[in-house]
Amino acid sequence: MNRYLKILISTGLVAVSLQSPMVNASSQGNGQPASHPHQDLATRLSPSANNVLNHPYVNIGHRGASAYAPEHTFASYDKSLNEMNADYLELDLQMTKDGHLVAMHDDTVDRTTNGTGRVDQFTLAELKQLDAGSWFNKENPNLKNANYVGQKVPTIDEIFQKYGTKANYYIETKSPDAYPGMEEKLLNKLHQYGLDKHNNLRNGKVVIQSFSPESLTKIHQINPNIPLIQLIDKGELAQYTNDATLNKVKQYAVGVGPDYTDLTADNTQYLRQNGFYIHPYTVNDEADMRRLNEYGVTGLFTNFPDRYDRIIHEHN
Ligand code: G3P
Ligand code: CA
Repeated sequence: MNRYLKILISTGLVAVSLQSPMVNASSQGNGQPASHPHQDLATRLSPSANNVLNHPYVNIGHRGASAYAPEHTFASYDKSLNEMNADYLELDLQMTKDGHLVAMHDDTVDRTTNGTGRVDQFTLAELKQLDAGSWFNKENPNLKNANYVGQKVPTIDEIFQKYGTKANYYIETKSPDAYPGMEEKLLNKLHQYGLDKHNNLRNGKVVIQSFSPESLTKIHQINPNIPLIQLIDKGELAQYTNDATLNKVKQYAVGVGPDYTDLTADNTQYLRQNGFYIHPYTVNDEADMRRLNEYGVTGLFTNFPDRYDRIIHEHN
């Protein structure tokens, strides 16, 4: 069993009372999301289409448009937002030695830069010396682009400064155990850039995701208005698809992010009936995208936001 899930079950988690009678989902397996989420959502998230989470299918650009450009660079983010109609920028957060939040998936720089070592052993100034784009050109000669050479690891400040409230953010607290204080820093940044204003949160402009219930619970305790998504490790979804566990997850999260290979029509419907948004990761094949939409997912993470955009419009 996932160690986070063990903690969740053993501790009973947070004592937040949301009096959340469930409202039955209306999805009939035709890919259309349920009309009304559980009470928690109904009270804290806008039920209108202005809420990004209520888009018929939410297109989450995984590390930007990472099939086409080096992940977690502005080249990748720009492509996902400007060319591929992604609803959200998906950001993985790490923290530097001197406490700056930066967007990077791995906890080492080895795979996605020309450096080596743990992110938390670099100061921001040192990290900024690294080339975060050339690796992509070497690995993808058919997608090679001179603009990718010398791309830098972006900080969360730079990302929020560049896109402000024009973009929507789907932010993962990566390795929260390794970075004490990451959650507080992130919430401070949301506040600094006005992203935690009532209407922004009500409309799903910022979503925080994590595999760690502890990290999500901590965020929920600080600001219960931030929509949270519980990520679920591959092979672990069955442990979540029971009323007792889902009732605990409901105390802090509005949705779940399972590995897409664990979803079936039945467990998707069960999660929808429990009022959860369902955003599987990471779905790159068009047939899988169509099948998951038919199951009733409410969106998905993809390295190919252009593909999912096409499929969304097929359905509409
Ligand atoms: O955050 C959703 C998905 O990205 C989780 O997997 O390892 O790509 O962050 P990972
Ligand atoms: Ca992620």
